[in-house]
Amino acid sequence: MAQKTFSPTWESVKTHSLPQWYDDCKLGIFIHWGLYSIPAWAELTWELGAAPSENEWFKHNPYAEWYLNTIRMEDSLAHKHHNETYGSDFPYEKFADSFTCENWNPDEWAKLFKQAGAGYVVLTTKHHDGFCLYDSQYTDYNTVNMGPKRDLTGELTKAVRAEGMRMGTYYSGLLDWTTYPYPTYGNIKEDYNRTYAFADYSLNQATELIDKYSPSLLWGDIGWPEKGIENLPWLFSHYYNNVPDGVINDRFSCDWYDHSTAEYLLGTRSLSKKWEMCRGLGLSFGYNMCEGDDTVLSSRDLVRLLVEYVSHNGNLLINVGPRADGTIPEIQASRLRDLGAWLEKYGDAIYGTRIWEEKQKDTLENGAEVFYTRNGADLYAIIDNLPDGMDKVILPICSQELHVERYSNYPVPVKLEGYF
Ligand code: GLC
Repeated sequence: MAQKTFSPTWESVKTHSLPQWYDDCKLGIFIHWGLYSIPAWAELTWELGAAPSENEWFKHNPYAEWYLNTIRMEDSLAHKHHNETYGSDFPYEKFADSFTCENWNPDEWAKLFKQAGAGYVVLTTKHHDGFCLYDSQYTDYNTVNMGPKRDLTGELTKAVRAEGMRMGTYYSGLLDWTTYPYPTYGNIKEDYNRTYAFADYSLNQATELIDKYSPSLLWGDIGWPEKGIENLPWLFSHYYNNVPDGVINDRFSCDWYDHSTAEYLLGTRSLSKKWEMCRGLGLSFGYNMCEGDDTVLSSRDLVRLLVEYVSHNGNLLINVGPRADGTIPEIQASRLRDLGAWLEKYGDAIYGTRIWEEKQKDTLENGAEVFYTRNGADLYAIIDNLPDGMDKVILPICSQELHVERYSNYPVPVKLEGYF
C-alpha cells in the first residue's frame, strides 16, 4: 500500500492515528541528562502537583534539571548551595567545560533499558537551559562543540535501535533560559519567548531533529512559542511524512496530539484516549545526588504504578537521571533491572494488552486490590496487596477460587483464559 502523505493543514494532520506499537509496548525510558547533571542538586520537597503554591514550587523546586532557574532566585537554598559550592561568580554555562561524559557507554545504557523491558527511549535533546545534546547548526551551545565533543543524541539513537527499541526526542520548544535572564515563578505561557525569531529557532531545531534522527516520538514540553503556532501543521506533517508511525504528545499548545501526558499528580489520564505518565524514579528528572531510598520508588512500587497505569489506558515513561560522567546510579539501575525481571515473568499481562472497558479495578474485602487488563479473549486480574500468608482469591467477577502465585510483595497476575 502506498504511504499516506500528510499536507500542512490541521485537517490533514488530524487524520493520523495512534500506531499500535506505542499502545502495545507500555513502557518507555525517559532520560534527563545535561549540564544540570553536574551540580545534581535540588531540595527534596514535593511531587509535582503537591506544592502549596506555584511560587513555593519554583523556589523549592525538586527538579534538579531546573537548577539554573532556581539558583537565579536569590533567596533560594539552591542559590546558597551554588555560591557555597562553586562561588557566586561561577556562571551555569561554565559547567559545559566539565560535562565530559567520560564513562559513557551508550550500548550499556541501551542494554539496561532493554533489560528493563522498555520499548522506547526518550532523550532530552534540549532542555530548558538551552544546551543541546546534538550537533545543531543553529547554536554552538551543544555537546559536539563543547564538553564531550560527541553527538550524544546520535550515539544513543544508534545504540537504542540496535537493541530493537524505538528512539524519541524530547525538545523544550518554549522555555529556553538562554534568551531570558530572570527566574520563572509561573505563568510560563504568558511571558516567554514572544518573538518571531525565537519561534523560528524552535521550528528550525525541531525540524533538524526530525531530519537527523527520524525520532519515533516527538516529545514537546510545556508549550510552543505563540508566534510559531501557525507553523505546527507544517511541522507535524513534515514529521508524519518522515515517520508515519511516529507519535506526538500534548505539549505543543494546540489541540492535536497522539497521546496525552500526565506528570506525577498533574496532567490528563483518560480511558478513551491513550495517555502516558512521565515521572522520575524519585522527585526529580535530572540526577539529584541528595535522593536516596526515602524518595526513590521501591521496585515493588514501580511495578505497581506500571500495572495501575496500563489497566487505565496509560503507558509509563519512567525517567533515569544519569550522572554527568555517563554512569547511571545503582539506585536507579537496580529499579530498572527489578522491573525487567518482573516483566520477564509476567509480561503477558502487560504487553499488547488493552483496557477492559467495563472495569479497571476492584478492591476485595481482605484489602487486596485487583487491576484488570485484556489480551484478546483472555482477562488478566493483577492482584496487589494480598494479605500475608494468603494465596487464593475470589474475584467479584468469577465465583471460582483462584490461586495466586507469590512473588515477594509484588503484584501478580492471574489469567482468566477465554473470559471473553
Ligand atoms: C516538565 C518540566 C521538566 C521535565 C518535564 C518532564 O514540565 O519542566 O523539567 O522535563 O516536564 O515531563
